[in-house]
Amino acid sequence: MTEKLHWDPDLIQRYNRSGPRYTSYPTAVEFNVVESDQVERDLLSKRDPSTPLSLYLHIPFCAHVCYYCGCNKIVTKDREKSEPYLDLLKSEIDRKAELLEGHPIVEQMHWGGGTPTFLSDDQMIDLMDHLRKRFNFSTANSADYSIEIDPREIRPTTLKLLRKLGFNRTSFGVQDLNEKVQQAVNRIQPESMIRDVMIEARELGFRSINIDLIYGLPHQNQQTFAETLDVIIDMSPDRLSIFNYAHLPERFKPQRRIKEEDLPSPEEKLAILGNCITKLTEVGYHYVGMDHFAKTDDELSRAQANKELHRNFQGYTTHGDCDLIGFGVSSISQISDCYLQNSPDINIYEEAVTNNRFPVVKLIETNTDDLIRRHVIMELLCHDQMIFSELDQAFNIDSRDYFSEELSKLSPMIEDELLEVNENGIHITDKGRLLVRNACMVFDRYLHANIIQSYSSSADASANKETNRPRFSKAI
Ligand SMILES: C[S@@+](CC[C@H](N)C(=O)[O-])C[C@H]1O[C@@H](n2cnc3c(N)ncnc32)[C@H](O)[C@@H]1O
Ligand code: SF4
Repeated sequence: MTEKLHWDPDLIQRYNRSGPRYTSYPTAVEFNVVESDQVERDLLSKRDPSTPLSLYLHIPFCAHVCYYCGCNKIVTKDREKSEPYLDLLKSEIDRKAELLEGHPIVEQMHWGGGTPTFLSDDQMIDLMDHLRKRFNFSTANSADYSIEIDPREIRPTTLKLLRKLGFNRTSFGVQDLNEKVQQAVNRIQPESMIRDVMIEARELGFRSINIDLIYGLPHQNQQTFAETLDVIIDMSPDRLSIFNYAHLPERFKPQRRIKEEDLPSPEEKLAILGNCITKLTEVGYHYVGMDHFAKTDDELSRAQANKELHRNFQGYTTHGDCDLIGFGVSSISQISDCYLQNSPDINIYEEAVTNNRFPVVKLIETNTDDLIRRHVIMELLCHDQMIFSELDQAFNIDSRDYFSEELSKLSPMIEDELLEVNENGIHITDKGRLLVRNACMVFDRYLHANIIQSYSSSADASANKETNRPRFSKAI
C-alpha cells in the first residue's frame, strides 16, 4: 500500500470546522435522557444470541492527575477505593449476563479508563475470573482482548499477568517525551520507561501495540514534537494515535493548571500535525483515518484494504459486527441498533447498581434514516468511498434520489478536489482524506448551528444540549 496524503495548510485551515468524530451515528449528543432501564433489559434479553459480543469495562481510577486529561476518571492515591467499585462492576456484569440468551461468544474485550492497571494483580485476576464464569470467550486468533496502560502504573509482574489473563493487545499512553512538556502536564515518564515496557510487551507476545501521543500540549513546537516522534518511531509501535489536544478548562478542572500562553499557536499545531503525517507516511505508517496510523501489515490496515474496517465507540475496529456491552461508569453500549450510555457520575452509578437497576441514563433507538446515514458516514470514514448500489441494496432505496440534496451540497468539496462523485458513488481523493469529516457532516441530519468543541464521545454525551458549552472538536 503506497501512502499518498496531501498536506495543504491553506485548504486544511479553510475546512477546519468543528465537528463530531463519528464513533457513532447519531452522535452521543443526540442521546436522550432515560429514567428507566427497561429498554436495555429488553435489548439484552431479545438480542440474537448468534451475534458475537464485544465487552467494554471502564476502570476510572488514576493515582496521579495529568493536567490535560479529558477522560472520565477519579484521581486518588487511596487504592482501597477500587474495591467497592469492583463489587458494583461485578454486580452490573451479573445482572447483564443473566439476561443474555444462549451462550454468545465474546470476540472482543477492552478495559479502558482511567487507568485499568491501577487495580492490583489480585483484583485483575478476580475480575477476569468473574467475566470468564459468565461469558464464553473466543479462543480464535482473531479474538481481540485489549487494555489501556499508563507505563507509570505497572508493576514488574503486570504485563506477564495480563498476558496470562488473556490480553493480547495493548495501548500505552505516552503523549510526549519532552521533559518540559511532561512537567507542564504533570506526567513525568522517561523514555527508558517506555522503551522497557514496549520491549517487554513485544517479548510477551502482545500484538498491535499502540502508543498515544497528543499534539497541542504546552511548550510543544515543531522541533520538540519531531524529536518525540523520532524516538517513538524507533520504538516501532504497530499503531499510533496522534490526538489533537482538546483544551476545555471550563469543563475539565485540571486543565486550568495549564497556562494558555504556553500552548502552541494554531499555526504551530497545524505544522506539528503536518510534520507528523509527512514523517509517519515516509517511514511506512499507513494513515487509517481520524488520528490513527498503523503499520501496513497491521490488522487495521489490512482490514481497511479489504474493506472490512468498522468504526464504533472504541474507534476503528475489525470487530464491528459485535454487539457492544459497556460496564462501569460512563461506558457506552451498542446493542442491535440502539446506543445506550451509563451515568458518568459515580454516585448515580452506585445508587442504580445497588438498587439492582442498570445505570443507563441516556439512549437512542435508531430509525431507518439513521441507519442509512450511518452506513454512508462509516463507509466514508473507514473506506474513503460510498458505493450507491451497496446502499440501494442494503436499504432498498434509490440512494441518488434519497440524497439528492446532500449530493448537491458536496459541490464545493468537488470543486476543491476533495472528493469525486461518479455513477458508482462518492470517492474521497488523496487530497480529501484528512478532511473526510467534512463530507460526513453533510449527511448528518442532526447537526445544527451551535456546533462547538469537545474532546471525546463520552464527554460529548455529558455535555448539556441546552448550554452553549463546546461540544465538538475541530477536524484537525
Ligand atoms: C484513558 S487515557 C489512556 C490510559 C491511561 N490512563 C494513560 O493515560 O496512559 C486515553 C487517552 O486519551 C488521550 N487524551 C486524554 N485527554 C485528552 C485531551 N484533553 N485531548 C486529547 N487527547 C486526550 C490521551 O492520549 C490518553 O492516552
Ligand atoms: S491521561 Fe490517563 S493517567 Fe492521566 S489523568 Fe487521564 S486517564 Fe489518568
